[in-house]
Amino acid sequence: MKTEELYSGKAKTIYKTDNPDELIAEFRDSLTAFDGKKKSEAEKKGYYNAQISKKIFEMLEEEGIKTHYLGMVSDTDMLVKKVEIVLIEVIPRNIAAGSITRKYPIEEGTVFKEPVLVFDYKSDEYADPMINDDIAVAMGIATREEIDYIRSMAFKINEILKSYFESKGFLLPDFKLEFGRADGEILLADEISCDTCRFWDVETGESMDKDIFRFDKGDLSKAYEEVARRLVPEIF
Ligand code: C5P
Repeated sequence: MKTEELYSGKAKTIYKTDNPDELIAEFRDSLTAFDGKKKSEAEKKGYYNAQISKKIFEMLEEEGIKTHYLGMVSDTDMLVKKVEIVLIEVIPRNIAAGSITRKYPIEEGTVFKEPVLVFDYKSDEYADPMINDDIAVAMGIATREEIDYIRSMAFKINEILKSYFESKGFLLPDFKLEFGRADGEILLADEISCDTCRFWDVETGESMDKDIFRFDKGDLSKAYEEVARRLVPEIF
């Protein structure tokens, strides 16, 4: 049961519950991009992202990945284990897209021979700069052991998700993961959804993710619904 609001982020609101070790994440319809400079709402976005995240967390748990996911309490509300978030955005990249093509001479669509793992420091003040393992350790963001573990988990999750999405007709150029600490363990946290991944339709190459909003590429709700139809057909 939700008690008080703990924190309201760009797309989710986090609530306390009766249990001090558990929180509820409510997936909202609001959208932001470019450090909050662009804002909007999309009908049913929270619902589709919540259902897609649920499906992916359940699948990853079955594959032995430890996550913060505990269950759903409504269509848009996810019960999660309370964690202390590690302040790193962990981004596995399979095909070049987005910021990596702006920072380096790498053409969009370049298929990497092996997955590229990028760490961004989660900081609005510093605009999420790219960091490496040594800087993260030096800053005390995580221990060397934690970083090594996060790195190996990210590659494992990437392999699982890449083949899962391919089986559903999507390429997975990149996606963002967040990890957290609970009871001395590192758990996969946050969400995995159309807001945090790039999905390209394997037939048409079209974006089926938040790039639709970032770059005005069409009807976001319709694309998210199509992703949900392929990943969670049972809700239709
Ligand atoms: O912007 P960039 O190309 O670095 O994003 C890489 C991936 O991480 C994309 O799938 C994007 O949706 C995701 N991302 C995110 N939250 C951020 C930054 C990136 O979910 N704050």
